[in-house]
Amino acid sequence: MAELHSLRPAVPGVRLVPPAEPDAQVRVELRNLTRDFVLPEGIFRAVDNVSLSVREGEFVSLIGPSGSGKSTILNMIPGLLESTSGDILIDGQPVTSGGVAEKVGYVFQKDTCYPWRTAKQNIALGLEVAGVPKAVREARVMEAIDKAGLSGFENAYPKMLSGGMRQRVSLMRTLIMRPGILLMDEPFGALDTHTKLEMHKLLLDVWESERQTVLFVTHDLGEAITLSDRIVLLSARPGRVKDIFEVKLPRPRDAVRIRESAQYATLFSEIWHSLGEEFVKGKAE
Ligand SMILES: Nc1ncnc2c1ncn2[C@@H]1O[C@H](COP(=O)(O)OP(=O)(O)OP(=O)(O)O)[C@@H](O)[C@H]1O
Ligand SMILES: [Mg+2]
Repeated sequence: MAELHSLRPAVPGVRLVPPAEPDAQVRVELRNLTRDFVLPEGIFRAVDNVSLSVREGEFVSLIGPSGSGKSTILNMIPGLLESTSGDILIDGQPVTSGGVAEKVGYVFQKDTCYPWRTAKQNIALGLEVAGVPKAVREARVMEAIDKAGLSGFENAYPKMLSGGMRQRVSLMRTLIMRPGILLMDEPFGALDTHTKLEMHKLLLDVWESERQTVLFVTHDLGEAITLSDRIVLLSARPGRVKDIFEVKLPRPRDAVRIRESAQYATLFSEIWHSLGEEFVKGKAE
């Protein structure tokens, strides 16, 4: 797998890594995934018969209204939550067979910084647990700090950092473990528009160089178009795959300029209509 210290800024106009090929290896596969919850009033289906696959190096977004089962799906992939029926395969192996943890990185909506550790110590956490020698750890952490634009704040505690900075710390703490598969659950959902764009730039920059296989949950369509190769649209409760859209905008992408392009506008209005129907249905329930 590519190393974090090989991260470098995307060179404008130059594709560093070829796009995910249609015949690239499938890394994450969901087959007829269903999840029910047992409530006092009866059995409630949150996710209904969802099938999708994410290929090596592909960036796929899962979009849908609140309650459409996005987090439920994401939580089932590494086995944080059991499925009611259906299969989840990572590199062709059922997740129940183990060995998933070291392949998968998970970034949550809320930053998960420990308040008693500095930015540097938070980012180093996984490396410490993995027993990586101090000198190697230090070098990799400082590189991540630099990459995330956190230089000068490495010894700051989370309460001294802005929300965007804390989320960068959380992101880097996951990326520094070099997961080949990245699961992200609305990681920028709590951020203001400007900070969100900064995070898109950072994530695009890292991903253009490293090409992790990403499944990214959001209900922000602009974010999904900016980042993704494909967008999987879920219906309102229970979550079913309603539509899948290809995003063929050229890469590397500029998180700000891309929103000015005609292709972006066309894609946005095409998906918006379908997504809007589900927002209305979700609200009506
Ligand atoms: N542990 C649980 N017990 C009962 N119901 C649950 C549980 N977890 C989720 N649900 C229900 O399953 C449905 C899907 O929830 P989920 O959190 O996956 O939605 P989501 O698409 O991630 O929504 P949001 O965009 O608001 O994060 C919701 O109706 C939710 O109330
Ligand atoms: Mg959610």
